Order: sequence, then C-alpha cells, then structure tokens
Amino acid sequence: MYREDFPMLKQDIIYLDNGATSLKPQCVIDKMVDYYENYSANAHRGDYDISFKVDLEYENTRELVRDFINAKRKEEIVFTSGATDSINLIVNGFFANLLERGDEIILTKTEHASNIMPWFRVAGNTGAIIKYIPLDENSFVTLDNLKSVVTPNTKVISIAHITNVVGDVRPIKEIIKFAHENNIFVVVDGAQSVPHMSIDVTDLDIDFLFFSAHKMLGPTGVGILYAKYELMNNIEPINLGGGMNESFDSTEKMILKEIPTRLEAGTPNIAGVIGFSEAIKYLQKVGMDNIEKREKELRNYLIEKLLTIPHIDILNLESDSGIVAFNVEGIFSEDVSYYLNKYNVCVRAGNHCAKLTKDVFGIANSLRVSLYFYNTESEIDSLVELLKNKDKIMKEML
Ligand code: ALA
Repeated sequence: MYREDFPMLKQDIIYLDNGATSLKPQCVIDKMVDYYENYSANAHRGDYDISFKVDLEYENTRELVRDFINAKRKEEIVFTSGATDSINLIVNGFFANLLERGDEIILTKTEHASNIMPWFRVAGNTGAIIKYIPLDENSFVTLDNLKSVVTPNTKVISIAHITNVVGDVRPIKEIIKFAHENNIFVVVDGAQSVPHMSIDVTDLDIDFLFFSAHKMLGPTGVGILYAKYELMNNIEPINLGGGMNESFDSTEKMILKEIPTRLEAGTPNIAGVIGFSEAIKYLQKVGMDNIEKREKELRNYLIEKLLTIPHIDILNLESDSGIVAFNVEGIFSEDVSYYLNKYNVCVRAGNHCAKLTKDVFGIANSLRVSLYFYNTESEIDSLVELLKNKDKIMKEML
C-alpha cells in the first residue's frame, strides 16, 4: 500500500519506528526542493513576486492544517519548531501567567518528557502542584480515575491522546466534557494520534493541541500548536523579534502583530512548512479512517504473532494503537535492538523519553514497534522470525 511513494522504502530496511518519526513520501521532498530551487525567499517580508509566492504557500499550509483538524479559524494554528516547542509555548506563554500557588496541574505518569518537564518548571515557579491520574490495571486512564484526583483547585489537565509507549487511546472527548463542566483547561498531546486518526478539535472541544509534522510524513523542524481563538489570543509570545512586531521605538514601546503572526517570531522553517502541505494532502488522499483501520489490522497481526513466542512479554496487550511495547525475557531491550539492526530492522529500545512510565510498568526499558500504514504483514513476519530464536539473539546480539 503506497510503498512506492517512499524513497526510503527502496532500501533494504524494515522501518518500524514510526512513533519516533515517519518516512517521507517523494511529494514532500519534491515540494521542499522546489521551494529551495525556485522561490527561496523569506516569508511575510518581501514586496516581490517570489516572496508573495512564499506567503501564499506558507499560509496555504496553515489553511490545510486548519481543515485537517477542523479548527474554526486559521488564527488558531501557529507553526513552531516541533511538538516540544508547541507545548513549551502553551505552558510558558499561557499557563505561567495563569497558575497560582496551590493550583493543580493534572498529568499521567505515562506522558512523554515534553508533556511533563515544562509543567515541572512552571509548578516550581508558581507554587502550583502536579498530580497524576492513577492508571488502571492496563495502564489506561479512566474518567473515574481522573475524577478521583480533580478538586476545585484543578486548573489544567494535560495528557497525550495516545501515549508513546503504552499506546493507549485516551477517552479525550469524555475527559474534555468533564473538565469543561468543572472549568478546567485541557491540553492534548496529539503527537502520536494526529498522524494516525481523524481528529476534530471542534467536535472534541479541545482547548490546546500540539503535534509535529515529522511524525505524519512531513519534514522535521515543524510543530503545530492549535488553541481556541480566545486562548491563542492570550498566549504571550516567548520569542520577540522580527516578523511579529508592528512597531517599536526608543521609548521601548512595542506594538505586536495579531495572532498567529505574533507567535511566530523570526524566520520560520519555510521549506518545512511548505513541504508539510504535501504531507497533509497525501494523508487526506489515503484517508485518516483508512490509516487507522489498516494500523489496527497490522497491530492485531503483530500481537497474534508475538503471542506465539513464549519468551516475549508484551507490555501493552490491551492497547488499541499501532504502538506495541514488549521485551525479550532476560535480554536488555537495547541488545535486542542492536541484534535486529544487523538485519536492517529498525525499532526503538529504551525508555522512549517517557521516564516515569517505569513507575507504571515496573521496568524502565522496552522494545517498541510503532507501525504506520505503509508497513506490511511480511515485514512483521520478518521481525517475528528474528525474535523467535532466543539463543540466536543471545549469540548475535553484541
Ligand atoms: N517522541 C518520539 C518517540 O516516542 C521521539 O519516539
């Protein structure tokens, strides 16, 4: 399915690390090369034709993103350097001004570092308190468990829609409804969900959503921050400089531009943003529902095969995404990963930047297969074949 569109797949590799970054189709690469070869001017600055073209293409991507997540207005989309940059802007530009001593920030222990560390710092600076939603026996979030930690002091819940190790799909619609009934903001980390399923921010009533282009066929160095218009309008720019100001003078008076421009200081990743437009069009052509369905088929196939191997412990059997975390009994995950690498199989091993997950799983390290729609059953067969013989892994791993 669509494999011929991905130059990387012409190599002799089995790429199963899509949670880290996805492969890029030729159309995304071509779009970026076209920018560099034919109209590589700056954005929002020039009064000449190629600069106008840059503006058109750049703003066209913003419109495509708006449509892709069904935001109401283009001003609700800001381009950043990545998902990490987006959440840091949400925390430092909005919540740092809102939170007060004793206010509560609700997270889970299975969040990625980028959805934990900025909150640690803002809590330290404001006197707010971090609380974690207790997880159920499958390491899942339930509405009841969330309710058990919410108090009148709770100001924000910040959670991944799909976590990057457990791969659980959170019931965000119910969570957001409950949160809003209690005047609590919800920040959604969409890094592992937006590439894999249809997301409608208006239907879900999401306050803030962040994700990155490179996990959804786009270039590296482009992040997306969605916020409802009135919330976006209240994010204080962290970066001040060119492009985002209307004027400033020696009395130190600064007049800033409207959103989204005032939150995009400096020269943005123009080639990346423009290239991202082709990624969105490609995903829309394949169809997000088809992508979700295909990944479920692949996941079920992988789980079925792994369950036939006695020395494999699957950590997230009950999850419902293309992320499968497991260990080979008695062998350190990174050693298995090196072994697989000898056969050109790319998986991720370690703690996957989700360092509190060890408190949940009881172990710090695992292997992670993260699937995308271009993976195949035959690739899974090759992986499983390599994992079957534990003696071979022990012999060859180093
Ligand atoms: N957050 C990315 C991952 O989970 C890098 O691998």
